[in-house]
Amino acid sequence: MSTLIDEIHRRRTFAIISHPDAGKTTLTEKFLLYGGAIAQAGQVKGKKAKAATSDWMEIEKQRGISVTSSVMQFQHSGFCINILDTPGHQDFSEDTYRTLMAADSAVMVIDGSKGVEAQTRKLFKVCALRGIPIFTFINKMDRDSRDPLELCEEVERELGIDTYAMNWPIGCGKEFQGVYARDKQRILFFGDNGRGKKADSIEVDLDDSAVGDIIGQKRWETLQEEVELLGAGREFDLEAVQNGMLSPVFFGSALTNFGIEPFLEGFLQMTSAPLPRVADCGEIDTFNPDFSAFVFKIQANMNKAHRDRIAFMRICSGKFERDTEVYHMQSGKKMRLSQPQQMMASEREIIDEAYAGDIIGVFDAGTFAIGDTITVPGKKFKFSGIPTFEPEHFMRVSPKDTMKRKQFIKGAEQIAQEGAIQIFKIPDTGMEEVIVGVVGTLQFDVFEYRMKGEYGVDLHMQRLPYEHLRVISKTPCEPKELTLCTGAQVLEDFRGRSLIAFGGIWSVGFLLKHNEGLELIESVTVQG
Ligand code: G4P
Repeated sequence: MSTLIDEIHRRRTFAIISHPDAGKTTLTEKFLLYGGAIAQAGQVKGKKAKAATSDWMEIEKQRGISVTSSVMQFQHSGFCINILDTPGHQDFSEDTYRTLMAADSAVMVIDGSKGVEAQTRKLFKVCALRGIPIFTFINKMDRDSRDPLELCEEVERELGIDTYAMNWPIGCGKEFQGVYARDKQRILFFGDNGRGKKADSIEVDLDDSAVGDIIGQKRWETLQEEVELLGAGREFDLEAVQNGMLSPVFFGSALTNFGIEPFLEGFLQMTSAPLPRVADCGEIDTFNPDFSAFVFKIQANMNKAHRDRIAFMRICSGKFERDTEVYHMQSGKKMRLSQPQQMMASEREIIDEAYAGDIIGVFDAGTFAIGDTITVPGKKFKFSGIPTFEPEHFMRVSPKDTMKRKQFIKGAEQIAQEGAIQIFKIPDTGMEEVIVGVVGTLQFDVFEYRMKGEYGVDLHMQRLPYEHLRVISKTPCEPKELTLCTGAQVLEDFRGRSLIAFGGIWSVGFLLKHNEGLELIESVTVQG
């Protein structure tokens, strides 16, 4: 029994979020190097040698990007760490958001010369919704970067989270000398020829003038002032970190391997073992020996020849053992999970066991849907659902060949069921066309590609100008009789709900003003 508890205790499952190019792939790779999961740099590299993590879809190869998020596991300092990677491309999808549902904490990578960028903001919002701990790594300090104080202030202002600098940079770019670790009162020196070299560190008394001899008089004075300023500021509060209210900030340089180890150590100390998840019967204790999990992602077509799908599930309690019988709550069926596997950096491995906190992928012949709960026979409960996010891009889509209507509907519905796209229709029209809504525009290409490849349907696709979607929760008349502003359109989803799609967010004001009694809610919904 103690092994079960020990195993779960040592699990840490986190997602890395960043705007493209901030250095997420480089940082992931350094983590894996520390864990010995990969032997050399370049194995995880997103763009060039990207086949390493995921080459499942042709479209990924063509574009040289990772469309889907992947999961990697490695060991470090006695911990078993699961990293959930999110696509590093501008065109990300709802999948990216959902991946965050499987994480217990997040590492936010920020480019020191750029600060908070658009995608960081979006992903942060989802993490903040869940209240998970968020750690900030300000990267590329070996390059000219912005004032560190200004960067911390920007994180606070733009993202609405407090920050606490764990270390403080001494210069940047060509002048970068290292960082001062506040808790240990040590300077970690940035090696001259940095690349991959382990840096030296010494304990210092910042008031000792000898420090000035080492880092230069002016830098010493600036560092003293800045550290004093920090000291007069916010106190470190572990509880606030664990509630997602305070983000510990580390400065470093992933490429030159500088500051990664202290970051990882700090991160492991401050994060907790897998947290309990809420189900309809209450909280499910992570350490309960009964296996339970929920599906947070479905990856289709990993092997084109078989048109198979992989359902990724996060284990929420207990231990998973291969070949034991499990219960799929939504279908009410007992089953054995087929070919359970985990990603080990560059390889997928069939596994025999896994514990709460781990992510496993299982082959799926169309049984699972996003949000489904898997338990042990005899235990019946459902984990609270996974949110569906508001699409931001829309297309009117129809089959080029009207004879293919049936395949068109089947394909669109199945792909929507996997959660890659959302589909709507215009009220009182047939199924000759659907409105497809996505979070990231790349999903349109994926959709088009899959409709042709898997369902043999060529598509007519026409971009629509909508940017937002609201569910009509109360209406004074039939939705189609509402007074709409230019560019707005009433839609229906496949659950029969009425929605309004529109362009600028100001339209909400117009709609409410011109339709007394109308009530709109954001379309972020939770599937149960
Ligand atoms: P991403 O996954 O967040 O998109 O970023 P990625 O790690 O691919 O890094 C983006 C670029 O930034 C890469 O350069 C990478 O080498 C560089 N980079 C990452 N961390 C650091 C750092 O600490 N310092 C400096 N100076 N550069 C860093 P690239 O030229 O686009 O790609 P590559 O030729 O290195 O593969």
